Amino acid sequence: ESRPFASYGSALHIALPQAPRAGQLLTLLIDYEAGEGPGVCWLSPEQTAGKQKPYMYTQGQAVLNRSFFPCFDTPSVKFTYSATVKVPEGFTAVMSATSWEKQKDNTFVFKMSQPIPSYLIAVVVGDIVSADVGPRSRVWAEPCLIEAAKKEYDGVIEEFLVVGEKLFGPYVWGRYDILFMPPSFPFGGMENPCLTFVTPCLLAGDRSLVDVIIHEISHSWFGNLVTNATWGEFWLNEGFTMYAQRRISTEVYGLPYTCLEAATGRALLRQHMDATGEDHPLNKLRVVIEPGFCLFLGVNPDDTYNETPYEKGYCFVSYLAHLVGNQSKFDAFLQAYVNRFKFQSITADDTLGFFLEYFPELKEKGVDSIPGFEFDRWLNTPGWPPYLPDLSPGQQLMRPADELAELWAADGLNMEAIEAVDITGWRTYQLVYFLDQVLQKSPLPEGNVKRLSKMYPKISKAQNAELRLRWCQIVLKNNLEAEYSKVKDFLHSQGKQKYTLPLYRAMWGGPEAARALAMETFSATAPQLHVNVQNYVKKILGLGGAE
Ligand code: BES
Ligand code: ZN
Repeated sequence: ESRPFASYGSALHIALPQAPRAGQLLTLLIDYEAGEGPGVCWLSPEQTAGKQKPYMYTQGQAVLNRSFFPCFDTPSVKFTYSATVKVPEGFTAVMSATSWEKQKDNTFVFKMSQPIPSYLIAVVVGDIVSADVGPRSRVWAEPCLIEAAKKEYDGVIEEFLVVGEKLFGPYVWGRYDILFMPPSFPFGGMENPCLTFVTPCLLAGDRSLVDVIIHEISHSWFGNLVTNATWGEFWLNEGFTMYAQRRISTEVYGLPYTCLEAATGRALLRQHMDATGEDHPLNKLRVVIEPGFCLFLGVNPDDTYNETPYEKGYCFVSYLAHLVGNQSKFDAFLQAYVNRFKFQSITADDTLGFFLEYFPELKEKGVDSIPGFEFDRWLNTPGWPPYLPDLSPGQQLMRPADELAELWAADGLNMEAIEAVDITGWRTYQLVYFLDQVLQKSPLPEGNVKRLSKMYPKISKAQNAELRLRWCQIVLKNNLEAEYSKVKDFLHSQGKQKYTLPLYRAMWGGPEAARALAMETFSATAPQLHVNVQNYVKKILGLGGAE
């Protein structure tokens, strides 16, 4: 019997012929068909990179897999699975599984031998091929992208895995493969075990966006092994993963670069809190998902996807490291934490309880209740993090960008000083950081952005998605109508949620011409967007989307 549960799904109730005894094993066979649910995405050939064949993929996180197969769709329940997938001639199926095998009649058999939560089961069927990029890694992509995919990550993945294992313990998933998705994939990356799904926007040609891969690899320990038991504590997955990502990045690329990347993350948190208001209830690390008394009043877990669990979560984990005061001791704690809770689903109370147990001297000192920094405050009070990790080792990379942004924000530009700064050698994240500063100071005095655009084609004509996003934001905030077409082109080229929503918000908050651009762009691209993203955009544009 299907009974109402929440706005994002209904419950399947099954009456058993006899009450089972405690501990008795039951086998339940459920015959079902998956249709148009939000978890299963059916793409037409035009929606793929190659535009030749259709494509289907599933996206489970947070609570979409219930429309893919009947399950206990909560991260608190873990199980193994196996699947037999029959596909039409000329197609390949891949899944988030530890083993797979192609049989005759286009049939693929998959098995995941480690227990995982429902949101990590994923399948893709499409015209896809693969190429090796490391001893336990290959990339998958449509044939037209496979060269670029191989070139982007050939020989670099293994080092991240090795460093991750050194820091956090054994990599238990066997292979680590990467699948490049069609352009409308709504996320930068999705940590499906054994097979990370990523946006094709990562194909920048210069490995500059590899932080997303390091992030997804970090989920191999934080999220996929030790899992948040409820989506109300999503920060346990993402905050620890951001911390792990930056630990790996520090080992591989050094502290200055990693601090620069973290500073761009902090800018995103600032923008998010400014846009939503610091006191917004979602700006707490612990979010109320379903108040016990009324299921319909709860937050949809998908709505918790914002910068707070990531960057405020990162600050909290950094604060714990700061309390310990010694990086190798804290690394050892993280490894012990993974070992203690691997294959389990836990709450923040488990995490913090283990932290205090592991460091009894800190427990003794009462570090959980230092005024202003109480663990309870971290978890339950919305707003800006009470502690920010020191990012000053990145100053050597940030200072030139800060100074240049200062120059461009001035009335009456000092072109001599501006021309004296050579940005040709800057890394992508230095440019990103620079653009975030410019955005923050925008609108700039009349004419400045136009000049900036002319001066730096490397920025205003960039192909790199992170640069394109910032440039589009600057265009909109400065109302540079001459470059509106860039916003349109970028939104036509991809459908990542974190790129799409900020641009629609900026357009909708702008003048009539910007609003018209939003409407025109949305009506042309809506069919290509993931339904969740479609609904969020509708809500922004007042078209009655997501509740
Ligand atoms: N697990 C998330 C993606 C996600 C979150 C999907 C919530 C559905 C609901 C993934 O690990 C992620 O965080 N991706 C980021 C990468 C970034 C922080 C480096 C993204 O997509 O931008
Ligand atoms: Zn993540």
